[in-house]
Amino acid sequence: RALRDPHRPRFHFTSPGGWLNDPNGLSHWNGVYHLFYQYNPLAAAHHRIHWGHATSTDLVHWADEPVALVPGTDGPDRDGCWSGVLVDDGGVPTLVYSGRHGEHELPCVARGSADLRYWTKDPANPVITAPPEGIDITAFRDHCVWREGQVWRQLVGSGIRGAGGTAFLYESDDLRGWRYVGPLLTGDASRSQGELDWTGTMWECVDLFRLGEDEEADSTDVLVFSAWDEGTTHHPLYWTGHYKDDTFTPTALHRLDYGGRYFYAPQSARDEHGRRIMFAWLQEGRTDEATAEAGWSGVMSLPRVVTLGADGRLDQAPVPELTALRRECEEVAPGALTEPYTRLGAVRGDQLDIETTLRLAPGSTARLVVRETPDGAERTVVEVSRTHDGGGTLLLHRETSSLDPTVDIEPRYGELPLGEDGRVDLRVLVDHSALEIFANGRALTARVYPTRPDEAMGVGIGADGDVALERFAAWQLASACADGPRPLWP
Ligand code: FRU
Repeated sequence: RALRDPHRPRFHFTSPGGWLNDPNGLSHWNGVYHLFYQYNPLAAAHHRIHWGHATSTDLVHWADEPVALVPGTDGPDRDGCWSGVLVDDGGVPTLVYSGRHGEHELPCVARGSADLRYWTKDPANPVITAPPEGIDITAFRDHCVWREGQVWRQLVGSGIRGAGGTAFLYESDDLRGWRYVGPLLTGDASRSQGELDWTGTMWECVDLFRLGEDEEADSTDVLVFSAWDEGTTHHPLYWTGHYKDDTFTPTALHRLDYGGRYFYAPQSARDEHGRRIMFAWLQEGRTDEATAEAGWSGVMSLPRVVTLGADGRLDQAPVPELTALRRECEEVAPGALTEPYTRLGAVRGDQLDIETTLRLAPGSTARLVVRETPDGAERTVVEVSRTHDGGGTLLLHRETSSLDPTVDIEPRYGELPLGEDGRVDLRVLVDHSALEIFANGRALTARVYPTRPDEAMGVGIGADGDVALERFAAWQLASACADGPRPLWP
């Protein structure tokens, strides 16, 4: 069933079947990329989570590996092995993850075989037996662990009731015994900031890393988290700032991906080439019933490289390795976009990589339509626009992306920094129901589910106002996954 589903992506990683959520344990170990993920092989539902595992040497093609972590028959992870990370403990690959038992989620540790395939849970689990005492917390789970001088440090995602989301800082000599240091930073649970960058009542999947670390003086620390509240996954955000001693001094708070919950629970790692690579979970936008019927749920984002932009924010781009999937290319000659819309007869498909450079005069809008049916009844519209006072916006219209009244078709949008003379470098990756948009380093990820997926292949461009098309190229992208069935439990 999962194989025949026309909404199933072909160059994004998906689980063999069943349920997938967060990326975990990201690492580049002896030349091999390891992607672990929150996995329920038994059903397309978030229940009794295992750790799935896949490996790749090029970040494009993935091989399924044996399920890495299975919830215990008893013990602290009997109800699930939740999100965590992989660290190198003096040559021994070691996982730190959240064991779930009833309502309790506590840090656990497992040691891996040299090939990272087989994992042995520590008999002393959980390695932290209770959240910090005397604090009324909203939750306590997910981990960020790193080596600092002679010690290990760890962040655990949490929230202080009435105050806001937070990350608790711990320290250890051996990854087994942990001393509580204190909250690294606490957000603001009041909704005063507005909905789109509300920091929630709990921070899931905290991820702290340094960018520009080779240029000492200019380095910036980034604290990524996913804002959560009472069982609702809101969106990924990040603070830029400086981490020193036991505190993080924030400079600013930003949205990580304008798709919100469609790019949730990101985790990153530095690869052996020194790049910061990030993955996240693309949630479904269709009903639980439709998902159960499809037999699979959840898409892993394309790996992205994150760097520090000139404006002090994160610049995001898909890893360059993905261009290996490019096949036939169609180009559109440069010139002014004079029509509000023109269908491009030569470009069509549901696996596409489109790159275009546009110049927007003040007060203009350019649009790129994908996944359009021949009658135009279903179409997904990416818009970039420039206001008269120079600001830019990136907007994804999904209102007409599907005639199915049960799927999510809310638009998505965010602020777009414009280049010189209103320049916009736009890249749109279409992979069946998965859509990843990059515009001048900002990202917007979402899902679309046309009801006539086999016909929703059309692509077109157009503009209102004065827009110059400087470049347009669209490639067909090959599938990255094999066609045959994949065992749910390799
Ligand atoms: C985020 C999350 C994490 C948790 C995991 C459970 O999506 O809820 O907080 O560890 O997923 O699968």
